[in-house]
Amino acid sequence: MGTRIIGTGSCLPGTVVTNDDLAKIMDTSDEWISTRTGIRERHLAKEETTAGMSAEAAGRAMENAGVTAQDIDLIIVGTVTADNVTPACACEVQALIGADHAVAFDINAACSGFMFALHIAHAWLQTGVYRTALIIGAETLSKIMDWSDRSTCVLFGDGAGAAVVRADERGGLLAFDQGTDGVRGRVLSCPNRSNNNPLVRTSKELQYVHMDGQEVYKFAVTQVPASLQKTVEAAGLNVGDIDYFALHQANIRILQAVAKRLKVSEEKFPVSLDHCGNISAASVPILLDEMNRQGLLKPGMKVALAGFGGGLTWASAVLEW
Ligand code: ACO
Repeated sequence: MGTRIIGTGSCLPGTVVTNDDLAKIMDTSDEWISTRTGIRERHLAKEETTAGMSAEAAGRAMENAGVTAQDIDLIIVGTVTADNVTPACACEVQALIGADHAVAFDINAACSGFMFALHIAHAWLQTGVYRTALIIGAETLSKIMDWSDRSTCVLFGDGAGAAVVRADERGGLLAFDQGTDGVRGRVLSCPNRSNNNPLVRTSKELQYVHMDGQEVYKFAVTQVPASLQKTVEAAGLNVGDIDYFALHQANIRILQAVAKRLKVSEEKFPVSLDHCGNISAASVPILLDEMNRQGLLKPGMKVALAGFGGGLTWASAVLEW
């Protein structure tokens, strides 16, 4: 039994913030941001919430798949910016869409969150316990940015992407790889809750994302091509057989470096970071939805996906569309 993506959906907040808009509130420029990252604008949440955007994206994915909320057995949301510690974002999505009998929970694998959710859903669908799953990557990263740190806040955006996946005898997900390197985890971190009890004095200071950009870059350009190569081979294919590489959208230079290492044309690497920025777990499903709605994905095509980021974590998959 295989697992197939049968529908996609996405949701971006209504407010677009360009690089020039940021240059009005901090010492930066469109030239610096766009040449180093490829990012030109991002959407930032005002009234929107992680759960609300997730539910919108889920509704579009279900419509695209031709299923209803009653068909959904399992909801997994990959996020580091759920609206609450509890209830989980996935539980709120279950309520918002009315997927009454679905089991729902969140996972935190940062920018690999959607990919890890896909692999978990795949494993559970294989058992036959569940038939149809909704997997979502969703973030409101703007709430964990230090808006006085121009080296990180310009990179990120808010949004959600979703996919409906279903057990399918004809396959779909051909192979996958995933991994974690906790030893290097601190190169991209967002410390949050400290001990807080009668024995410990706790700082009430808000904590934001800290990143060693050059270390993250080195990690991405070595680990991602290695993982993709491994997964393509496990699928019984060559890198040249892959029609598209839909990768986490962190930085155009990372996409270019991965293409170069794999000796694949950059044209096979679709881009959404120019208008979305980096939306962590939401990047891959939003990109996939854009590709799907633009008609780029035809039945039988081979598509490689990869997520990588905080943890450090990485994951790749090869799908037959
Ligand atoms: N605008 C203008 N100048 C800036 C900005 C900004 N927004 N941010 C930093 N600078 C300045 C710095 O102060 C520094 O100035 P100095 O030389 O006078 O000290 C100069 O630009 C260079 O700063 P670096 O941090 O060395 O910039 P670098 O060339 O490394 O580029 C970047 C930073 C784009 C983040 C790069 O390290 C990178 O691509 N890293 C990959 C990591 C990544 O993409 N992370 C995204 C999140 S992680 C993930 O999703 C996997």
